[in-house]
Amino acid sequence: MKVLAVCASPRKNGNCDLLCSQLLKGAREGGNETDSVFFEDLALRPCRACYACRESGRCIQKDRGCEVMRKLAEADVIVLASPVYFYSVSAQMKTLIDRTLCCYTKLEGKRFVFILTGAGTKAELQRASESLYGFSDCLPGSLVMKLIIADGVYLKGDVRDTKAYYEAYMTGKNL
Ligand SMILES: Cc1cc2nc3c(=O)[nH]c(=O)nc-3n(C[C@H](O)[C@H](O)[C@H](O)COP(=O)(O)O)c2cc1C
Repeated sequence: MKVLAVCASPRKNGNCDLLCSQLLKGAREGGNETDSVFFEDLALRPCRACYACRESGRCIQKDRGCEVMRKLAEADVIVLASPVYFYSVSAQMKTLIDRTLCCYTKLEGKRFVFILTGAGTKAELQRASESLYGFSDCLPGSLVMKLIIADGVYLKGDVRDTKAYYEAYMTGKNL
């Protein structure tokens, strides 16, 4: 399978980034093909709700959106990783989700793994998962295979050697 991880934290080597790496490491060991996208490198602009994509199937924004949408459409498993910011996903993750408007029908039937990281408790971080499930709920036939929540992690690297760190690796390995 093709496994694509999208990290929507601005911090390279931060907690989301590390969990994506762990998951992809496991996925490769399990015989899968892997790819990753670091959202900050793309600088995607938000959806303008112009609906031009209804006619053309393409977004009017002149950025690397098409490249990411192609990767999403080609993946069998999509890993969406976001830090929790004020009980929600990061602006980067929301931008990515909204930008799929031009092609979201191509994402029907995809399998997803969701990753959330944050300083708070699991119950607090869980609230942010609603916007991720809201996305997959718009895609008929899609399946969320796993939600990994790394609670109590604040500084870059705090997630190393936590339960979530091993959970990410094992999730990748058992895809
Ligand atoms: C703007 C901002 C808002 C945050 N809000 C929350 C929050 O509501 N709940 C929480 O548990 N942590 C919150 N945090 C902490 C981050 O979620 C935490 O540091 C996380 O591990 C960052 O992930 P990263 O290392 O992948 O960037 C916030 C951090 C920032 C920068």
